Amino acid sequence: MPDIVRFQPDDKRAVEALYRRVFGIDSADANRLRWDWQYRNNPHRPSDGPLIWLAREGQTIIGQYATMPVKLSVQGREIDAAWGMDVMVAPERQRQGLGEVLFRTWDRHVGASLGLGLSDSSYRLFQKMRWPDAGPVPCFVKPLTRRALRRPGWSVTVNKLVSALTLPWIRLVARTRPMQGEVRTIRHFDDRFTRLWDRVAPSFAFAVRRDAAYLNWKYIQAPHVRYTIAVLERDGDVAGYVVYRHLQEPRGRVTIIVDWLAAPDDHAGFLTLLRWVDREARAANSDKIRAFALHAGFRKLLKQSGYFTVKSTMEFVAKINAIDLPSAFYAATDTWHVTLGDSDQDR
Ligand SMILES: CC(C)(COP(=O)(O)OP(=O)(O)OC[C@H]1O[C@@H](n2cnc3c(N)ncnc32)[C@H](O)[C@@H]1OP(=O)(O)O)[C@@H](O)C(=O)NCCC(=O)NCCS
Repeated sequence: MPDIVRFQPDDKRAVEALYRRVFGIDSADANRLRWDWQYRNNPHRPSDGPLIWLAREGQTIIGQYATMPVKLSVQGREIDAAWGMDVMVAPERQRQGLGEVLFRTWDRHVGASLGLGLSDSSYRLFQKMRWPDAGPVPCFVKPLTRRALRRPGWSVTVNKLVSALTLPWIRLVARTRPMQGEVRTIRHFDDRFTRLWDRVAPSFAFAVRRDAAYLNWKYIQAPHVRYTIAVLERDGDVAGYVVYRHLQEPRGRVTIIVDWLAAPDDHAGFLTLLRWVDREARAANSDKIRAFALHAGFRKLLKQSGYFTVKSTMEFVAKINAIDLPSAFYAATDTWHVTLGDSDQDR
């Protein structure tokens, strides 16, 4: 059996070569662009280096599990957790038990091992290893234009007919609604965001700590995407924020809501942030807005704002080791806050 060791800076070239073989050249290039930010600059990186394990056979690296350490709030307690991200085994060594060894090594070293947006093979391995399955994270879409309902499998005539029939409904759903409060964009998360987190954290049974250090790293310093951040202020304090970006997809232009935070019972606050995004999406000519939300309170407000549930492919597994929890904990996710911004899903 190969040795399982922690990543050292000298391993970088060999790991990049393995990444190219497993995920292809384009993904490897994108990974190189993100690497320093993603692994070295994470504010929760341990002092002895990135939380990455390698499977080494002599001089050869044949597997990796690269993870993202985060602080996780679970029922009012904060624990050291890590999202599992880039896991890979050399193609000729797959299905021989090495992946399982890497998964178990990661899990043994963290207070909670978490996975989001999994590939088919890793999801199956999580299932085989009986990791608690808390997903998928529901996906919501709000149509803004007739193009939002286009389907590539339909003929031009059918697409036109559907567009004509649904136009009044789209206009109703997408209509502008009033905002209650002061919203502005920012380029830095200051200490007020940490105080917001401290205030709202107890209302979530499960959420990654979203303090200023984490948010600046995740949404300001990311080298591969540029986010817009809007903040809702009341009396000089921060009542909530939303992170989003616009992108062109094969079927049209989409605004994606990547992350947000507000007290779940502050309905006016979250609705105001959603209405801000509506305006921004319209100004950017988006055909629709997409968001992923697990928390029942936020899901309800998304629906109230004209969002519809669509099929989600964002699988989510979570295994808490630091606290003893009954299996029922993983089935009751209504007060868990998980979004597309968690882990490294938006890349
Ligand atoms: C995911 C991965 C790391 C697993 O490593 P591995 O050494 O093959 O895993 P193990 O041999 O320990 O476990 C095998 C189990 O994993 C699952 N699995 C692995 N590859 C699979 C595949 N191609 N299709 C379906 N299930 C697969 C199955 O449950 C399998 O059990 P089985 O062989 O009894 O059916 C490896 O398949 C890999 O590198 N995949 C490509 C990269 C990737 O998708 N990474 C995940 C990104 S989220």
